[in-house]
Amino acid sequence: MEIHALWLVQHLLFALWVNGLLTIGLAGAQQGVICNESLMLQNLPLCGKSFQEMMHKVDSSKWCNLTEFILYYNNFTLCTEDKAATAKCFWPNPIAEGFITGIHKQFFSNCTSKKVHWEDPPDKILITLIFIPVLLTIAMIGLVVWCSKRNDILV
Ligand SMILES: *[C@@H]1O[C@H](CO)[C@@H](O)[C@H](O)[C@H]1NC(C)=O
Ligand SMILES: *[C@@H]1O[C@H](CO)[C@@H](O)[C@H](O)[C@H]1NC(C)=O
Ligand SMILES: *[C@@H]1O[C@H](CO)[C@@H](O)[C@H](O)[C@H]1NC(C)=O
Ligand SMILES: *[C@@H]1O[C@H](CO)[C@@H](O)[C@H](O)[C@H]1NC(C)=O
Repeated sequence: MEIHALWLVQHLLFALWVNGLLTIGLAGAQQGVICNESLMLQNLPLCGKSFQEMMHKVDSSKWCNLTEFILYYNNFTLCTEDKAATAKCFWPNPIAEGFITGIHKQFFSNCTSKKVHWEDPPDKILITLIFIPVLLTIAMIGLVVWCSKRNDILV
């Protein structure tokens, strides 16, 4: 169990979650608009492309080091939000999430298997402390997605 990787995932998910709540709050004010999924699908790859270009400037041995790419990642997140908003879609939404997950796989899939600098043996309590927020965050994302789906139906 790689604590470093869990920590990374947790922070990425948390960032998604906070942004999601903010966007849902904002989106509530502009209900009645219809999400143009094809427009969003068409524009999301632009975000992926610029993120890829920026990540390639970072040494790939540092791809698991959040401090090295948090700025780029934040930029990428803002970009996906922007594309969703342009298409009048809620963010996060299943399509954007699928896209972001794909990007994660591309860059962070090796973070669990790579030898991460971690000297102390994993501590049970530490793992628990990290896991609880991760599970909570996943649950909250599920809730947010569910709510936004409901909103889509209701609109
Ligand atoms: C959705 O976006 C596509 C691609 O830009 C566009 O061709 C289409 O007219 C849009 N649909 C609506 C309902 O706005
Ligand atoms: C991650 O990158 C930062 C900034 O370059 C560096 O200070 C830190 O030691 C790195 N951490 C690890 C675990 O490599
Ligand atoms: C964020 O992305 C935009 C366009 O993709 C780019 O112009 C800008 O320099 C980026 N900012 C950072 C901090 O990488
Ligand atoms: C992950 O590791 C495999 C095998 O070492 C390598 O081919 C692949 O390019 C790596 N992917 C990333 C994102 O570092």
